[in-house]
Amino acid sequence: MFGLKNENNQIFTYAEPFILVNFILNNIKFFKTCIDLGTGSGSILFLLNKLFSNARYFGLELVDDFLDSAINYKDDLAIRNIDFIKGDILESSNLFKESSFDLVTFNPPYYGMKEGRLPQDKKRLLQRFEVKATLNDFLKASNYLVKPSGRVFFIYPSEKINKVRKLVELNSFYITSIQRFYHNRISKSTLTVFQLEKSERETNYLEDLIRNSKTYKQLYQLFFRLNQEMK
Ligand SMILES: C[S@@+](CC[C@H](N)C(=O)[O-])C[C@H]1O[C@@H](n2cnc3c(N)ncnc32)[C@H](O)[C@@H]1O
Repeated sequence: MFGLKNENNQIFTYAEPFILVNFILNNIKFFKTCIDLGTGSGSILFLLNKLFSNARYFGLELVDDFLDSAINYKDDLAIRNIDFIKGDILESSNLFKESSFDLVTFNPPYYGMKEGRLPQDKKRLLQRFEVKATLNDFLKASNYLVKPSGRVFFIYPSEKINKVRKLVELNSFYITSIQRFYHNRISKSTLTVFQLEKSERETNYLEDLIRNSKTYKQLYQLFFRLNQEMK
């Protein structure tokens, strides 16, 4: 439903949610509350809930169609510990109390409005381009929502690492864990996952994740199985 198969029931790799959830699994063993900003149809939360089923989850999203899909899926499976909320991350302070969450996650739009041709399809535009919120907005909202001892997890294109470092610092966070994703051993890294915290400590560099490696295949199978089990 959410990424490992398309509407024609063909398998395809929509890798971001499971690269991010795998990274979370490698960095944290327990948490009570989590919010996913720009949750779309809820992929990140459904996967996280499969692995950490005792936590309480919230997903915030602007687009009705994505939310409808998330809510239908949740209702079909009678999931009670995830709430999907229609709202703008820019309004986080009107929707939630400060420092409410152990974890904040997000897979934000990656492209500025002047970076390439804007898609005609409005939903695709909102998914990919910073129409309604920039990376800085996602980090600001995270800073407000996460507990002082909490953690923020997100995924972003590797080529934009300098921008990430600058904005992370501007929002008073420290990068405490990083993992890079590659298509193969000779390609450039395409995506990077980050863990942020409010207190400074040494950055932990996790082993690179390579798409055509055995580790990635095992990981893909694990998440594919979880996805199947959720049907
Ligand atoms: C790259 S998509 C990620 C969707 C989903 N989290 C996933 O990983 O599959 C980015 C999402 O952020 C949402 N979004 C963008 N700006 C937003 C805003 N200001 N408030 C709430 N959601 C927003 C988009 O509608 C889109 O669903």
